[in-house]
Amino acid sequence: VARIFGPSSGGAPVAIDKDAIKQFFEQRAKKAEVVGQLSAVIYQDKNPALAVERDRAEKALLVDKIIPRRGLRILDLGCGNGRWAGELLKSGCIYHGVDGSAGLIAQARAKYAGEKNASFDVVCAERISADVVGAGFERILVFGLLVYLNDEDVVRLAANLSDIAAEHCRLLLREPMGIAERLTITDHFSTDMDQFYSAIYRTEAEILDMLAPLLDRGFRSVGSGDLFDNASLNNRVETRQRWMILERWG
Ligand SMILES: C[S@@+](CC[C@H](N)C(=O)[O-])C[C@H]1O[C@@H](n2cnc3c(N)ncnc32)[C@H](O)[C@@H]1O
Repeated sequence: VARIFGPSSGGAPVAIDKDAIKQFFEQRAKKAEVVGQLSAVIYQDKNPALAVERDRAEKALLVDKIIPRRGLRILDLGCGNGRWAGELLKSGCIYHGVDGSAGLIAQARAKYAGEKNASFDVVCAERISADVVGAGFERILVFGLLVYLNDEDVVRLAANLSDIAAEHCRLLLREPMGIAERLTITDHFSTDMDQFYSAIYRTEAEILDMLAPLLDRGFRSVGSGDLFDNASLNNRVETRQRWMILERWG
C-alpha cells in the first residue's frame, strides 16, 4: 500500500496502474450481481444504505445545476452503468454515456434497452475526442472519473473537451478531491470491497489548472462547492466530494 501526499515523489507525479483500474471496474461490474448496480459504482459494499444516501444527496444537489430540459444533449464521460441516465431521460434529455468498462456499459445498455434517447459506448478516457464520441453536447458530465486517470490523460481529455462541447455548454465535474493537498493511493486493499484500489485525489486548484485550456476556448468557472452538507457522507478526512462547473455561453 502506498499513500503519497503532495504532487510528486522524488520530482515526478506518482502514477496509478491503468490496467489495475480497468480490472477493478470489470470486477465491480461482476459484483453488481451481489451488491447491486448502485454500490457497483458508489461502493460501500457493506453499507448499501450509505450508497443510497449518497446517490440521493448527489442528485438532489446536482440536477438543478445540470438544468435538464427536453432535447438537451448530454454526454456523460465515465458514465459507469448509467446511474445518471434515468434522472436525465425523465426530463426528456438526449443522453449519451461512455465508459471504459465493457461490463458496466453492458449493464447500462440492458437497463435502458427500450429508451430511444439513451445510447452507450465503450470508450477509454485516453481515446475521448470529438471523432470518437461526437460533438455539440450542451452538457458534459465528468462524475468520479478524473480520480482514476493519470495527469497526462486528464490533460489530454481537457484539451479535447472544447471540440466535443456545443458553443453553449455547461461542463459539470463531481470528484473526490484532496482538501489540503493531493493524495495518491496505490494498491490499497479495501476491506469494504475486498478489492485492491488506486486513485488520485487532486486538489481543486490542480484540477482547475489542468482545465486551463478550456479557459482559452471561452469557458469560465461558474462555481464549485461541497457535494454533501453532511460531512459524514465523505469517505476520508483528507478528501471530500466536490462539484465544479465551467460554462461557455457561445
Ligand atoms: C466511480 S465510477 C463513476 C461512474 C459514474 N460516473 C457515476 O457517477 O455513477 C468511475 C467510472 O470511471 C470509469 N473509468 C475509470 N477509468 C477509466 C478510463 N481510463 N477510461 C474510461 N472510463 C474509466 C470506470 O469504468 C467507472 O465506470
